[in-house]
Amino acid sequence: MTDTYLTLVNTGVTKALAKKLGLPRPAPLRRYRAGDPVAPGPVLVLHDAASTADADVVAETLVGWDLDVRRHAASADRYGAVVLVLTGATHPDDLSAPVLEAAGTLRGLAPAGRVVTLSRPASDGDAPAVAAARQGVDGLLRSLAKELRGGATGNGIVVADGVGVDAPSAIGALRFFLSSRSAFVDGQLLGVDSAAGALPGDWDAPLAGRVAVVTGAARGIGASIVATLARDGATVVAVDVPAAGEGLARVANSVRGSALQLDITAPDAAERILEHTLARHGRLDVVVHNAGITRDKLLANMKPDRWDSVLAVNIAAQLRMNEALLAAREVRPGVLDDAPRIVSLASTSGIAGNRGQTNYAASKGGVIGMVRATAPLLADGGGTANAVAPGFIETEMTARIPAVTRQVARRLNSLQQGGLPVDVAEAVAFLAAPQAGGVVGRTLRVCGQNMVGA
Ligand SMILES: NC(=O)c1ccc[n+]([C@@H]2O[C@H](COP(=O)([O-])OP(=O)(O)OC[C@H]3O[C@@H](n4cnc5c(N)ncnc54)[C@H](O)[C@@H]3O)[C@@H](O)[C@H]2O)c1
Repeated sequence: MTDTYLTLVNTGVTKALAKKLGLPRPAPLRRYRAGDPVAPGPVLVLHDAASTADADVVAETLVGWDLDVRRHAASADRYGAVVLVLTGATHPDDLSAPVLEAAGTLRGLAPAGRVVTLSRPASDGDAPAVAAARQGVDGLLRSLAKELRGGATGNGIVVADGVGVDAPSAIGALRFFLSSRSAFVDGQLLGVDSAAGALPGDWDAPLAGRVAVVTGAARGIGASIVATLARDGATVVAVDVPAAGEGLARVANSVRGSALQLDITAPDAAERILEHTLARHGRLDVVVHNAGITRDKLLANMKPDRWDSVLAVNIAAQLRMNEALLAAREVRPGVLDDAPRIVSLASTSGIAGNRGQTNYAASKGGVIGMVRATAPLLADGGGTANAVAPGFIETEMTARIPAVTRQVARRLNSLQQGGLPVDVAEAVAFLAAPQAGGVVGRTLRVCGQNMVGA
């Protein structure tokens, strides 16, 4: 599961050789360690003429995080991040001053630096020039992300009209995108739909006092989600099939959580999860539907068991479980009643399609539709449902891909490498946290800006 190419082009003689030959040289990504600053250097905050007040709010927030904030670009300065506040733009002309000022700083952006835009969503009711400015930010951000090098990323926050840039989810997304927790999230625009949610008392333990269930937790991305939620303060129930019992126990013990051996396709899966979780931990706040399987075949060669098993694990089990949990929520105290969070694992295959994965993509597309329709059912208690769509992540699942295809798949994104399980886990932890309460029914891609798909 190691990416030998990534190591070779970053070390010794082979590094020099790769440079000489003009080979792609993916940069090692900076990943979060406790105590890291929010951004890897001074943060430049720029804005369009009508966004001064919003830029002031953003700058004050950043100063509160002990960052060195600058309001004008100085050519000799090297920035850790550039934040473009474009919420007030009403014509594409409004973008030019801040964007061109940012342009002059990009060559000096620190390794693993960040560019983050804040803007408003374009809607059919907008005046054409307003919609053009707003949608223009989308194209700008996606292209800029493809130009950044050295492990730097570009992401955007699209804050709904009527919601302030000081809304918990706008602030939370800003911190997530600036930090190394979003190492493999690139070229994405995340919608903030409402001012719901709350800033955590302690940014290092936003999930303190919360109880989370993670399915498919014995290895890979699931094991990393368990570790990350526990790091952020949650008590975790780790669920996986009995055959994975040994790994499951190891994962659960490592975070002093509990292990529950269970096939999520069992009709009574939700009931058993509830019994276990309430008996051991007294409440249930966060459900992460991570368990998933692949059974790839061209549709022309697809046997019913391959189609049916993938749909059963990846989507039907989640639907059945959510339905049972939502019903239990009505009658059992402690079940998803305080700002609950459901986070499901989708996939870029479910967005862009992938040859040989009609079954998998149907299930993962299904997840994206499911969270959109589930989110409103949780809104009364301040709850949300969202999905994370990983691209190519280095796990046992992707280690089974033939070697050459795997090498190619790794390079087909702006960061020119596969992500790690922790990159997906960080996105799940963000969506599970109190500050993400205004992100509703969304799918956040963790794919290094995969070349395929939206
Ligand atoms: N690895 C990637 O590149 C990638 C990309 C996109 C999406 N995903 C999604 O991320 C999730 C995790 O992927 P991974 O790469 O860690 O996979 P993995 O195969 O390494 O781990 C999946 C885990 O789910 C468990 N599981 C499978 N069926 C189960 C069932 N019926 N009940 C309970 N547990 C069950 C397995 O035992 C295993 O421990 C999956 O939903 C996958 O589709 C992965």
